[in-house]
Amino acid sequence: MKIITSIKDMQRYAQQLKSEGKSIGHVPTMGYLHEGHLRLVHEAKKDNGVLVMSIFVNPLQFGPNEDFDKYPRDFERDERLAENAGVNVIFYPGAEDMYPSKVLSVTVKVNDRVDVLCGKSREGHFDGVATVLVKLFNIVMPDKAYFGMKDAQQVAVVKAVVEDFNIPVEIVPVKTVREEDGLAKSSRNVNLTGQERQQAPAIYESLQLAEKAITNGEYNLNQIKNKVKDHILTNTDGKIDYVEIYSYPELKPVESMRGDIIVAAAVRFANARLIDNITLSL
Ligand code: PAF
Repeated sequence: MKIITSIKDMQRYAQQLKSEGKSIGHVPTMGYLHEGHLRLVHEAKKDNGVLVMSIFVNPLQFGPNEDFDKYPRDFERDERLAENAGVNVIFYPGAEDMYPSKVLSVTVKVNDRVDVLCGKSREGHFDGVATVLVKLFNIVMPDKAYFGMKDAQQVAVVKAVVEDFNIPVEIVPVKTVREEDGLAKSSRNVNLTGQERQQAPAIYESLQLAEKAITNGEYNLNQIKNKVKDHILTNTDGKIDYVEIYSYPELKPVESMRGDIIVAAAVRFANARLIDNITLSL
């Protein structure tokens, strides 16, 4: 497995792979790998000649009071896990190379799908995600890039970014990977206390209750959202950031219970904010 830290070297290598007719799969990550990332690698390996994983904790997508400093980092562990999973190249740039000047002369501003869910509670977050991904796609030059559906809003936003900017990369969404008790795998789970970790599966349980209610014909959105909130509040010490139901991937209010919808929740614990969702085709 190659480790490339320089942007120029990565671009040169991507160009060489292309000239050899090899397709490039890209798994963009912020490191501290878990099985969710490894599932993305597994999917990417099926379809591509060479698999590049980028590891970069992107400061631009964290707000001033968010967990950029606390975000878990362990490159040696990531290196081992990536190599065992069959990653061919880790692209591991420094922040000073990705953002050489203090004031960025150009950033991407996302205008649609960001006034709801995580975009509403994390102002500017998706501008940071979109900016770093446009840069990473220009550096790694992937044919396909893989994203977990735990961040379903991110998947919807990234698809719009590549469409609007005509970036020739296919965005491949991959199903959320869960612990045995249902908790969605996340790098942030390590920041839960023992007790919070015991409580956290209630988030997915609450979404399953919503799914059951909807499939049993409950179409009153407030009733469904209250069911989800009650379950979270009764079973965890977390504070609900949001519980919402929207059309997916448009992320617009649901007018009739038809088509594809998302039921999404975000819950704040002492040192970790967890998100989860289910998408349903009605
Ligand atoms: O999902 C993530 O880990 C990040 O948002 C991403 C896509 C790597 C961009 O920094």
